[in-house]
Amino acid sequence: MKFFITGGAGFIGSNLADEVIQRGHKVTVYDSLVTGHESFIQHHFGSPNFQLVKADVLDVSLLEKSMEGHDVVVHFQANADVRGGIHNTRVDLEQNTIATYNVLDAMRKHNIKNILFSSSATVYGEPEVFPTPENIAPIQTSLYGASKYAAEAMIQAYCEYYGMRSWIFRFVSFIGKRYTHGVIFDFIKKLHHNPSTLHILGDGQQRKSYLNVSDGVNAMLTAFDKANDKTNIFNLGHHEYMNVVDLADILCAELGLQNVNYTFAGGSRGWLGDSPFVHLDVSKIKSLGWMPQKSIREGVIDTIQYLQENNYLFEYRD
Ligand SMILES: NC(=O)c1ccc[n+]([C@@H]2O[C@H](COP(=O)([O-])OP(=O)(O)OC[C@H]3O[C@@H](n4cnc5c(N)ncnc54)[C@H](O)[C@@H]3O)[C@@H](O)[C@H]2O)c1
Repeated sequence: MKFFITGGAGFIGSNLADEVIQRGHKVTVYDSLVTGHESFIQHHFGSPNFQLVKADVLDVSLLEKSMEGHDVVVHFQANADVRGGIHNTRVDLEQNTIATYNVLDAMRKHNIKNILFSSSATVYGEPEVFPTPENIAPIQTSLYGASKYAAEAMIQAYCEYYGMRSWIFRFVSFIGKRYTHGVIFDFIKKLHHNPSTLHILGDGQQRKSYLNVSDGVNAMLTAFDKANDKTNIFNLGHHEYMNVVDLADILCAELGLQNVNYTFAGGSRGWLGDSPFVHLDVSKIKSLGWMPQKSIREGVIDTIQYLQENNYLFEYRD
């Protein structure tokens, strides 16, 4: 099959591209490299099974032209910065919702029937049920979550109108190889600047679930193989969760730092729209035979080691 991967030079997209090529399929990565990296995909350059189109999803004519002839679209491209919407109220609408519309309409024009979509646990806002199942009716608490939820809804409508099928994945925080943003990244960056103090957003008691990217990619491909509804919605997370202070303790131990003074911004949320507890019910994806292979602790340690070996990544993000 021919896979068209938007955002395929990013953290999660490049890991999925590797796995899909490994399984014998052809891949086109469509990515502007705004937050992605050529270094994440350059090992495929020159392969007849791989093509990179360096372009923007908002460039509709180029997107449509590039998508022709593919069987499956995996749509990872997004503004993946969950906090930015409060300062720039257009970014999530444009980069997440309108961009998804562009992808869907290009699929319609080329009669491409399959889409896998990277949604987020953020669409649950602050749910009252834990672990949170797929079938609750959430209230949105962030523009990022709202833009993903709107994108999900548009995908469902396109499936209804045009005979497409979709696999919609609500991710917890992914960690692991090629991780470039998130709490571990922020903490290491802060500790590089000042190894004696770590400023933690919120009260440090926020509990979050994390999933290793290799487990996440395998879950996506398991669902694509085995789930056959018109629209298939899956939580992708871990049965475990960890609080932020425990994560900071692991990090300091791995970096060999002792007696780091934690200071707290206060409040139970890291930022407006942050959910103090993210723990998704993953029984639906597990019922297809999938299980995470790594504990959260193992995944966190792998991620720290990866970032230490790939220090250059800290040059790119604030
Ligand atoms: N990382 C996580 O923990 C997490 C959690 C929930 C959901 N998600 C979602 O998963 C997807 C992938 O996230 P990621 O962590 O790999 O992020 P990422 O920033 O590494 O990947 C996004 C990719 O899209 C590309 N891109 C962005 N805007 C573009 C545009 N307008 N045109 C073309 N390319 C563009 C970037 O260059 C990058 O390669 C995103 O949709 C994100 O919202 C991620």
